Amino acid sequence: MSSHPTRPRILVTGGAGFIGSHTVVALVESGFEPVVVDDLRNSRPEVLEGLERIIGRKVEFHAVDCGDAIGMRHIMEQPLHGVIHFAADKAVGESVSFPEKYFSNNIGATARLAAMMRDHRVKHIVFSSSCTVYGETDALPVNEEAPIQPAASPYGYTKQCCEQLLEYSHASANGSLGVALLRYFNPIGAHPSAEIGELPIGTPANLVPFLTQSAAGIRPELTVFGDDYPTPDGTCIRDYLHVCDLAEAHVAALKWLEANPGAMDVFNLGTGRGRSVKEVIETFQDATGETVPHRYGERRPGDVTAIYADPSKAERILGWKTRRSLADSLRDAWRWQCKLGH
Ligand code: NAD
Ligand code: WQD
Repeated sequence: MSSHPTRPRILVTGGAGFIGSHTVVALVESGFEPVVVDDLRNSRPEVLEGLERIIGRKVEFHAVDCGDAIGMRHIMEQPLHGVIHFAADKAVGESVSFPEKYFSNNIGATARLAAMMRDHRVKHIVFSSSCTVYGETDALPVNEEAPIQPAASPYGYTKQCCEQLLEYSHASANGSLGVALLRYFNPIGAHPSAEIGELPIGTPANLVPFLTQSAAGIRPELTVFGDDYPTPDGTCIRDYLHVCDLAEAHVAALKWLEANPGAMDVFNLGTGRGRSVKEVIETFQDATGETVPHRYGERRPGDVTAIYADPSKAERILGWKTRRSLADSLRDAWRWQCKLGH
């Protein structure tokens, strides 16, 4: 089956990536027509095949840099109902070594995309921000009123900067642009079909892909970064949410923008529950029956002790909350790891 020309077309930048690909599924399930733009700098063409197996038809796909006005022209010239902007570089450590790359792609491409949206009168944008904008915070759970701290990395700075950029775009559009800034906590898991998931390009920096690779024997062991934090079991606490729950939040944000033209707001997206690294390992072992070889090592520089979301604003205004458990997320992450092989 081919695409549906009558459905509202949503440009999904970075739609072949981890969160973007799951959101493409959620969009199709909700009656939208995704238009995927991804230059595959951190993804592979096979993701599109997995996507198409889930939804049972072709997805419109363009291997273009979303900040390239010439490459994007023919895409923007077709009527677009809205944009979900995932495309960015996301490795915190790499951003410290190569800050220019992060300023250029994350901020530069967003600025150019926002200008294209203005030229083509696109009315809604949903933007991928991050809980990293809060830095180390004492008041937990963290709500959207918490102060934005000076960024701890160039990556974090680019998220703060893009939020501000879109606030200025919103102000200058005089009610003709709606903006939803979504601050994700820690997305994990994969689609339960195991057709799409997080692609392990290089050594994973994030906990769950490193954990599943260790359980699969690809890595000798997982190092738990620090067991002397002031938390109940000494390991850091985060708010891990299933990527399919996160994907559904984007649809909820789009619908909220449709119902409130020209609005702008910011939403935390998490479960509201903090989990320690030790709890994640134990839940994984219980949920899958697999053993995670691990040892306790030094703290990782830059890690905050504990952060988890107050997601009540998203529930109140977007009508969204997470539905899947940590065990569901880890089971789905493991199924995806098994599909990828050893
Ligand atoms: P990802 O790397 O899997 O997906 C991003 C996709 O964007 C990739 O497929 C990449 O090829 C593409 N891309 C990058 N720059 C591009 C450009 N200029 N033009 C076209 N395509 C481009 O990352 P993800 O985990 O899916 O993250 C999506 C967004 O969510 C990012 O903005 C990221 O900063 C943000 N975010 C991610 C997390 C997380 O833990 N994964 C947490 C908070 C926020
Ligand atoms: C989670 C916990 C580690 C790996 C990062 C970005 C943040 C956001 C989400 C984009 C921490 C511990 C990890 C390992 C470990 N991304 N850990 N051993 O650091 O919360 O957030 O991803 O916006 O900006 O900084 O996620 O998955 O790296 O770590 O013990 O091998 O797991 O110390 O406590 P983090 P993470």
